[in-house]
Amino acid sequence: MNSHSHRKDEHVFIAEKLYQSESTNGLDQIKLFPNNLPEIAWDEVNITTTLAGIPIPAPFFINAMSGGSPSTAKLNEKLAAAAAATGIPMATGSESIALKLPEVESSFSIVRKEIPDGIVLGNLGADHSLEDAKRAVALLKADILEIHLNAAQEIVMPEGDRKLKWRENLKKIITNLEIPVLVKEVGFGISPRLLQQFKNLGIKYVDLSGRGGTNFAKIENQRRHAKDFPLLDNFGLSTAETLIASQPFQKEFSFTASGGIRNALDIVKCLVLGADNVGISGLFLHTVLKQDSAGLIELIEKLKYQVQSLMVLLGCHNIAELRQADFTLAPELYIFQKQLQNY
Ligand code: FNR
Repeated sequence: MNSHSHRKDEHVFIAEKLYQSESTNGLDQIKLFPNNLPEIAWDEVNITTTLAGIPIPAPFFINAMSGGSPSTAKLNEKLAAAAAATGIPMATGSESIALKLPEVESSFSIVRKEIPDGIVLGNLGADHSLEDAKRAVALLKADILEIHLNAAQEIVMPEGDRKLKWRENLKKIITNLEIPVLVKEVGFGISPRLLQQFKNLGIKYVDLSGRGGTNFAKIENQRRHAKDFPLLDNFGLSTAETLIASQPFQKEFSFTASGGIRNALDIVKCLVLGADNVGISGLFLHTVLKQDSAGLIELIEKLKYQVQSLMVLLGCHNIAELRQADFTLAPELYIFQKQLQNY
């Protein structure tokens, strides 16, 4: 097996090894107020929303992880089977490797085969050209292309990119690609200063992907046993922080929230804070590895049911009404929000 495929397998293996059922996404610092006289029937609640402008049946999806080796092909097949059975969208991992090695193309295209009619997201780094982006879309007949900004991950990897000059590529892709582009982090959060710049680049869809779940600094440090003097283990903004920091930009972007999402309450809190939908990687990876596609299907259906139930308890008929739900912030997050006002 080549070194790129080996890296894909290691990411999955170490992500699962480091997986913790409790995350540190900061969402526990948000308190939602129950509506004790909700005046709403369970089946009046509508959990549909949009992802990068496209209607989706539930407010969460399987975020980028897999592809590029025989074992991650199998994983993509299982994840895709669950996505097809439940109707939620699914993103593949970075297709970069398939652009170099035609023999691994099928580890990605298997996703479209399993999901002939559903929503599939491709994935590529921002170091790629518009031509590469078009090839990545074609390989999956993708509905949306995710472009990941993973500067911190590149820096932690000794073999990573050392010339992080991606803006021109990004601009060309955003301007010319015929499908929506969702620009995403990989678990370090996106700052409000960058959101300002995104506006000028014409970006509309952003996955804030905050710290608190899968941590690529930790994964990369484990890969080379750099545990004694780790770089960037606690770097970046938590999912709660990056969501709070994005709130002034809600009119300009449609936000995806991700990073350490573990349950329906996490999902609902992200929606209350202004996200239109939520991406989940680590939890779904853990579930499919332990319980196969059947277990993942069960979890996805449970999450749909629980999101709807929580919306009843908040008295909200739809995702737009969730934005009006009352909440308070614990002191640390409150001070973070206050400091942003001088930013
Ligand atoms: C990822 N993630 C990721 N993201 C991306 O844009 N391209 C990629 O190729 C990958 N690869 C990848 C592999 C594995 C094994 C995991 C677990 C994750 C990052 C992912 O999409 C997400 O942004 C973060 O993992 C944070 O979400 P969770 O895992 O905390 O829910």
